[in-house]
Amino acid sequence: MIDRDIAMGLVRVTEVAALQSALWMGRGDKNAADQAAVDGMRKMFDTLHIDGIVVIGEGERDEAPMLYIGEQIGKREPEDIQVDIAVDPLDGTNSVANGLPNAISVIALAQRGCLLHAPDMYMNKIAVGPKARGVIDIKAPIETNLRNIARALNKDIKEVTVTMLDRERHVDLVKEVRRIGCRIKLFRDGDVAAALATCFPGTGVDVLLGIGGAPEGVISAAALKCLEGEFQGVLYPSDENEIKRCNEMGIKDINKVLKFDDLVSGDDVFFAATGISDGELLKGVLYLENNRAATHSVVMRSKTGTIRFVEATHNLYKKPKY
Ligand code: FBP
Repeated sequence: MIDRDIAMGLVRVTEVAALQSALWMGRGDKNAADQAAVDGMRKMFDTLHIDGIVVIGEGERDEAPMLYIGEQIGKREPEDIQVDIAVDPLDGTNSVANGLPNAISVIALAQRGCLLHAPDMYMNKIAVGPKARGVIDIKAPIETNLRNIARALNKDIKEVTVTMLDRERHVDLVKEVRRIGCRIKLFRDGDVAAALATCFPGTGVDVLLGIGGAPEGVISAAALKCLEGEFQGVLYPSDENEIKRCNEMGIKDINKVLKFDDLVSGDDVFFAATGISDGELLKGVLYLENNRAATHSVVMRSKTGTIRFVEATHNLYKKPKY
């Protein structure tokens, strides 16, 4: 069994990544913002008692020096449990570079072999919170899904809010949702934060629809498993090479609907996220006087259903520099 105290350890990791990355907010350099998050996250992983392997990370070994797919991380002592780790040290690189909302640092962790090794391509997604669990079907027409969601939430169809990435590829989806009569909230970047938002009624977001990154899909699924919401995805390869890539990674049927059992199996999943810039659920990093900074995080575990929000103040004089 995974030690439950790993939850706080994971928050420490996303906090450091967020603190490092947030220094780059609005400075127009998304690579530097990402690198800062990666450096902070990678160093902090060395403090955790896990025998981890990165299944979703910064890319293949030859293209990413740190947090690459297959990298072994954690203290990796003989008694440390073997786990799969999915990371996105900075989801929303453009958001940080341009001082826009919704950027977070995230980690999902599960027992070894339980996280899908999602290829770096697009995925069509639908995500809802606990009240609409069981009523969605990504293969069904949008209208059927939205009417079922409205019924499950006891809302008029006009009150249902759909969120999706603001992308050209979603023009027809926007038209269809408008025809059906739902509200739409577009966002520029960060569909992990958007998927999370569907599980918290206070965010005003009821359902995430549309195409985003497949690795982000697996991380979102880990969060929604902990929150007892529902996530479904279908890979969306854009060429023959990407189809080949899916096959090589063991995904034979690219049209398969990927549900929790395919994306995050097992009964012990952890998810942690820290806000970098302000979002619907998490506040961004706040720099305070006297070299202090405040962070806002959420951490959860599927086995127990515990969801913790962690507000922390850090003394930056005393923190190690990464
Ligand atoms: P990055 O932080 O890697 O830039 O990802 C941001 C993001 O908005 C993801 O949350 C989302 O899944 C993906 O980009 C969508 O991809 P694209 O920008 O190509 O539409």
